[in-house]
Parts: sequence; C-alpha cells; structure tokens
Amino acid sequence: MGLFITFEGPEGSGKSTQARLLYERLQSLGFPVIVTREPGGTRIGEMIRRILVDLRNTEMAPTTEILLFSAARAQLVNELVRPYLATGGIVLCDRYADSTFAYQGYGLGRDLEELQAITAVATGGLMPNMTIFLDLPVEDGLQRRRAAREQSGGGYNTPAEWNRLDARDLAYHQRVANGFAELMNREPKRWRRFDANQHVEALADQIFHAVEPLLQGMEPMP
Ligand SMILES: Nc1ncnc2c1ncn2[C@@H]1O[C@H](COP(=O)(O)OP(=O)(O)O)[C@@H](O)[C@H]1O
Ligand SMILES: [Mg+2]
Repeated sequence: MGLFITFEGPEGSGKSTQARLLYERLQSLGFPVIVTREPGGTRIGEMIRRILVDLRNTEMAPTTEILLFSAARAQLVNELVRPYLATGGIVLCDRYADSTFAYQGYGLGRDLEELQAITAVATGGLMPNMTIFLDLPVEDGLQRRRAAREQSGGGYNTPAEWNRLDARDLAYHQRVANGFAELMNREPKRWRRFDANQHVEALADQIFHAVEPLLQGMEPMP
C-alpha cells in the first residue's frame, strides 16, 4: 500500500529542491503526499541530525555515525513512513538507506553486509518503490553548496548549510559517487537516473514523468 519514493545523489545535486517540487506537484493534483528527509523528519530524528552534522564532532567513530543515522531512520520509518504508507499515501524522502551504503559503505569502507543487517533492523526491511538519482559531478555539487553558502552565510538547516559530512575530502565524495553507480547497477529496476545539470523546472518535469506510471491506481483525494 502507498508509494515510497526516495531521492539520492551527491551533495548539492538538487535532492531537496526536487523533492519539494514533486511534493508540490503531487499535492496540487490532489494526491495524499508528504515529504521528509534523512537524517531527520521527526522531532527525535532532527535532534540526532544536529549531532551528525555538527562540525565540532570530529572524534565521532564511524560505528557511532552509522548507528545514529540508523536510529534516526528507525524513528522516521516507525513514526512517519509506515503509518502514512498504510493509509495509501505517497511518501517522498530526501535520502534513505542507499545513502548509508554509499557514504558509510563505499565512502568510509565499512562492510556492506554489516550495513545491510543494521539497515534491516532499522527499517524492518522497508525499501522504496522508486529511487530517483540526481547525477552531478562531485565537484559541481560541492561548488553549488559553497556558492550558496557564500551568498547566505550557510546557517544550520539552510540549503547552504556546510556540515561535518560535506567537509570530507574530494576522494571520499568520489568513492561515494562510485558507490551510487554500483548500487544502481545492482538494482536497475528500482533506480531512475537523471542528469542534475539542467534547469530546475526541466528536471522536475522529467522526474514527474518517471513517477507518473506509479500513480495509476492511486486515488487523488476528492
Ligand atoms: N538544477 C539546478 N541547477 C542549478 N542550481 C541548482 C539546481 N537545483 C538546485 N540548485 C541549487 O544548488 C544548491 C543545492 O541544492 P539542494 O536542493 O539543496 O541540493 P541537495 O539537497 O542535493 O544537497 C541550492 O543552492 C539550490 O538552489
Ligand atoms: Mg538537501
């Protein structure tokens, strides 16, 4: 029941922008839809997010990082995602389990099977019906975020936020990008890949058209 769609891709590729636009479009068509994000999306999850992104937390062990992401995810799935899907609604999520595989698995070199086991505990095995991948060269995404930060000051929770995870080196972000490519190869049916280096509105149209077939049989609200 319901429809679960996630957005993945490198920093600055436009995930938050496109998740919001798809949400607005589906809502204007009358579909029951919510948009949320990881880590966060719940009161408890947002508290965990603050710990994860805090630039002062340089001593955080990789295992701590993985378990905090997973704890936030468990809360989101239990509190928001599963209940909303059970009512037949559409849940859009800005990042999900694939980010753990890409960032902590391929990026930090943690064992993928171990991550899969932790993720299965956190999510109870819930995986998206479709995952939208916004493809952008790592450098370009980081540059977009940097540009936004210089314009607005880059405060916490703004699109320009510069956080502990963004601050890792380019080689790390490159390993993450290769990880996403590998994940897409493994499950080509679930993933849809888009060139993120296009105008925001053109990209939004392409994403909507990819999602459209999944809406058949879902009832817009009266
Ligand atoms: N298609 C696009 N072209 C150019 N800039 C974009 C595009 N989409 C988003 N941006 C800008 O890039 C920055 C990062 O976008 P955002 O949606 O926050 O990315 P993400 O959530 O993937 O990190 C923001 O300043 C945003 O306005
Ligand atoms: Mg974002």
